[in-house]
Amino acid sequence: MAARVKFFLDFLPNYNVQVTLCETGNHEEAEAEIAKGCDLVYLETPTNPTLKVIDIQRLAAAAKKAGAITVVDNTFATPINQNPLALGADLVVHSATKFLCGHSDAMGGLLAGKKELVQKVFQFREINGASLQADPAYMIARGMKTLQLRIERQNASAMKIAHYLQQHPKVNAVYYPGLPSHPGHHIASKQMRGFGGMMSFALAGSYDRVEKFLPSLKLAHLAASLGSVSTLAGPPRTTSHVELTEAQRKQLGIPESLVRYSVGIEDVEDLLADLEQALAKI
Ligand SMILES: Cc1ncc(COP(=O)(O)O)c(C=O)c1O
Repeated sequence: MAARVKFFLDFLPNYNVQVTLCETGNHEEAEAEIAKGCDLVYLETPTNPTLKVIDIQRLAAAAKKAGAITVVDNTFATPINQNPLALGADLVVHSATKFLCGHSDAMGGLLAGKKELVQKVFQFREINGASLQADPAYMIARGMKTLQLRIERQNASAMKIAHYLQQHPKVNAVYYPGLPSHPGHHIASKQMRGFGGMMSFALAGSYDRVEKFLPSLKLAHLAASLGSVSTLAGPPRTTSHVELTEAQRKQLGIPESLVRYSVGIEDVEDLLADLEQALAKI
């Protein structure tokens, strides 16, 4: 996310593209901004790392009214859980490095949507962009054959883990759209078939707790990536959002004691036991 904020705010203005960031989840603010006029509305839902949820249908309709196209980053949800094109989006992007590949062994991206728009991007990338080599393309295509099986398992395990963490006294908050207490639960229930394998949780206390907790996990790999068959955990403070200041993270609602947890396909009882023993150590 931080890299994308940087791309929008630092890089695009160099190409004379004006960018306005809107508060995620504040649909009225976003609609008012879109109505002022724009060419493209870029959404990410659920968001990295606090799993905020945006009503795709609502903002895609606002974009259409303003004559803009809507692009949705569907990386966290995957096509198994959410289909933005069916909700009015024009283009969908995925980091294929994550769930689509599923094994953390290839990097790539994927774009889907209206043929004339995809064609434009294809032509641009043919000349200006990095193109995917055969090896990672093969790994991603092979990983995608098991996408549905993996995601069904990850959806179910994540839901159990989120409920477990929510009642734990050493956990301050759990960010998972499948929990009825999540502010975006209602929208997520409307537009997602499953709530995904990604969640975050804030430990009670400060960042030192995270430093003690993470190395105590025996099953989760400490990694900045996500969406693998192996459970991955990491602190946004020093990984995905390290480029932001503490004040900027605070502004985005990212607590310093946040742990991002990407649920793998291990036995969920083993994952719960692992979390239990690591939480007992802090
Ligand atoms: C939601 C989302 N989109 C895109 C990306 C970028 O992915 P890649 O590392 O494959 O460029 C990330 C990386 O974490 C992400 O979380």
